[in-house]
Amino acid sequence: MDYDVIIIGAGAAGMMAAAVAGQRGARVLVVDHAKAAGDKIRISGGGRCNFTNMYAGPENFLSQNPHFCKSALSRFGPWDFVEMVDRHGIQWHEKTLGQLFCDNSAKDIIAMLLTEMETGGAELSLKSEISRIEKARDGFRVTANGRVLTCAKLVVACGGKSIPKMGATGFGYEIAQQFDLRIVPTRAGLVPFTFQGALLEKLKSIAGVALPARVTAGGTGFDEALLFTHRGLSGPAVLQASSYWEEAAPISLSLLPDTDLPAALKAQRQAKGGIGMTRALSEYFPKRLAALLAEEFAPDGNLADQSDQAIDELTAKLRNWKVTPSGTEGYRTAEVTLGGVNTDELSSKTMEAKSVPGLYFIGEVVDVTGWLGGFNFQWAWASGVACGQAV
Ligand code: FDA
Repeated sequence: MDYDVIIIGAGAAGMMAAAVAGQRGARVLVVDHAKAAGDKIRISGGGRCNFTNMYAGPENFLSQNPHFCKSALSRFGPWDFVEMVDRHGIQWHEKTLGQLFCDNSAKDIIAMLLTEMETGGAELSLKSEISRIEKARDGFRVTANGRVLTCAKLVVACGGKSIPKMGATGFGYEIAQQFDLRIVPTRAGLVPFTFQGALLEKLKSIAGVALPARVTAGGTGFDEALLFTHRGLSGPAVLQASSYWEEAAPISLSLLPDTDLPAALKAQRQAKGGIGMTRALSEYFPKRLAALLAEEFAPDGNLADQSDQAIDELTAKLRNWKVTPSGTEGYRTAEVTLGGVNTDELSSKTMEAKSVPGLYFIGEVVDVTGWLGGFNFQWAWASGVACGQAV
């Protein structure tokens, strides 16, 4: 047997599992077709890697089985990762909403994981194309760059389909299918919405405008920034809601949810009622957006002409602006892939496939997807540790 453990994918989950398994004494090889390890870590968080979220809990994840992630997350939480980061002298800060970022560079996290792997003696083989995986009597045979390698345990950590330009493939799902494991259909998550026709023209006319909003899709709402773009809608609130969106369904935009707009407009009517509705709204909204909102929703006349009821009706529309996306930007720009290996097929304690002893799936390839804000890396670390302790 060449190795105790072969891990496919030198991303967040794969490197963490390799470090933990290696430090427990296993002979570990990590294979990846990329030129460098941890490419997604490198570009994450605008180059500073939002490596975890202080408040990460099972409620921040989407999965067909919302209980599956509990075990791994409870055994390796955000502060366990912070402890590792501190041990390596990496400076960090909370940006907002519990999101922890490196002060310096995401490369520090990659260097940390490579050092942890080295400590455990784990080997890394980059630019390795895997052409074949077979089950052997006492383990697996993996053909990489034409060479057959044998191992007792095989860990699939090749991530999701997001950003194919960076080498993302559906390989992990193919391996699951090869071993007859069920897959929850995959789709792009944490992704901007696109629009068509007249609505797109309107949204385009205010591209670049951003404001606080609550964006709701599929019954789940997020209060963060909303950004109008040349293709439609983006910004953290939109990315979050996209993971809950079902095709062809409308989404609801509640603009400035923390401002008491009815009271503000009524007070303004008292003080300077002679202004037009665009002017009135531009007290609260960026100018170009105010013009669009006035045209879309405001009744004729100046502010002074509006009854209390008219103001209430107008603000109700601004609190529940229903728009129907034509789609999303897809895997091209999505931060994550929803769906994946059905968690019913895996042990939540070890990530091992119940029907294929010795075969493990960790990280994004599994049907566990986090919110925006460091949750996806937390799942990669936690599932990587659970597996690394078991193999
Ligand atoms: P990951 O994608 O990290 O690694 C998979 C590895 O497998 C890659 O190295 C790949 O090359 C390799 N691989 C794929 N196919 C293969 C094949 N056929 N053969 C061999 N190797 C193969 N999350 C977060 O919590 N905070 C953040 O700040 C961000 N920021 C962010 C920005 C952007 C632009 C993106 C696209 C994503 C994020 N994310 C994020 C999400 C996060 O990057 C993602 O959830 C984790 O990297 C998933 O870790 P995995 O180890 O599962 O896959």
